[in-house]
Amino acid sequence: MERHGKILYGGLRALADELGKEEWRDARYTILLDENTFQHCLPLLIAHVEALQEAEFVEVPVGEECKSLEVAAQVWQTLLEGGADRGHVVVDLGGGSVCDLGGYVAAGYKRGIRHIHVPTSLLAMVDASIGGKTAVDFGGVKNSIGHFYPASLICIEPDFLETLPQEELVNGQMEMVKTAVVTDSMMFTRLLSSSEIPHNLIKEVARIKNRVAKSDPYDLGIRKILNFGHTFGHAIEVYRQLPHGLAVGIGMRVAMYLSVKKLGLAEEVYNTYSQWLNGQLSSFNFQFSIFTLKAIEQMLPLMHQDKKNSDGELRCVLLQEPGAAVIDVTVSDNEVRDAFLQLSKS
Ligand SMILES: NC(=O)c1ccc[n+]([C@@H]2O[C@H](COP(=O)([O-])OP(=O)(O)OC[C@H]3O[C@@H](n4cnc5c(N)ncnc54)[C@H](O)[C@@H]3O)[C@@H](O)[C@H]2O)c1
Ligand SMILES: [Zn+2]
Repeated sequence: MERHGKILYGGLRALADELGKEEWRDARYTILLDENTFQHCLPLLIAHVEALQEAEFVEVPVGEECKSLEVAAQVWQTLLEGGADRGHVVVDLGGGSVCDLGGYVAAGYKRGIRHIHVPTSLLAMVDASIGGKTAVDFGGVKNSIGHFYPASLICIEPDFLETLPQEELVNGQMEMVKTAVVTDSMMFTRLLSSSEIPHNLIKEVARIKNRVAKSDPYDLGIRKILNFGHTFGHAIEVYRQLPHGLAVGIGMRVAMYLSVKKLGLAEEVYNTYSQWLNGQLSSFNFQFSIFTLKAIEQMLPLMHQDKKNSDGELRCVLLQEPGAAVIDVTVSDNEVRDAFLQLSKS
């Protein structure tokens, strides 16, 4: 199995060409999808990719619900009953949830069969489909069971975004900004200055994510920079039941505030980002005033539970400047309280 998937920036046309090659000649395919991607994405996929016209498909629950051992077992059952052998290929047609499940299923079936990511949400195109991490949720813990098991191919086709709900677009946009701010200051500026997301930027951010993931395939060092904003974002997500990307967007503001205080990040960067974020948040009815002292006390334990922290200390990714992130910066509870309280006054 390849250690890194091949990314097809040419979209469905490139996928059609690729699957016409000798190495895929005898492949049989099972497409994993959910109700939404069945309706909105499957027609486009099979219209463009002849090799998939005869494929079977398996529908799984929408969203995080599909990332379970039970659903994985149902897909394995279907594969077995259909006589899928080691040459069989799973095609993951969906957002990050379907991609994570599909990779997990492929990794386990008959000691590993090939799979192809066809990400259909913005978040999956720029983030979840790249880097080889697969997982299901178990024991109440997100992504607790999984493998590093890259897709053989990853097909980036921005045309799928036509039907993606606005909230999901914002989710993906936040992760794009996150990847940019820790790696590439020019890209960060470009993303903040355009309200629409041009397709070429999607591909460029996917390239950046791929570069970072390749340099640290098992997530032991530098790849941690991609967790920027996530320690705080994750706590906000759980506490307020907010969508992940949105919560990470707010978490990045907390992280930038701390970066100004602790690493000398220019205040201007913090202000520009805060202004941009407010624009994004305007349609979500979100108020920073929710961060009362009581709320912060309830969120702190959630931050300490975060898997990125060890020794009972909060260790975060912070920024020296856009494009220059520092991992494992120790942050005290009081510094976190101060950051959230400042935000609540804004
Ligand atoms: N493996 C990784 O490295 C990695 C990285 C980041 C996130 N993730 C995982 O990704 C998941 C989140 O992914 P997500 O944000 O894509 O959510 P998702 O997969 O739940 O998709 C969001 C929603 O959009 C719908 N949808 C997807 N594409 C559509 C389209 N083209 N048209 C209409 N509707 C469409 C889905 O049906 C769903 O309702 C989480 O489980 C997260 O843990 C994994
Ligand atoms: Zn994230």
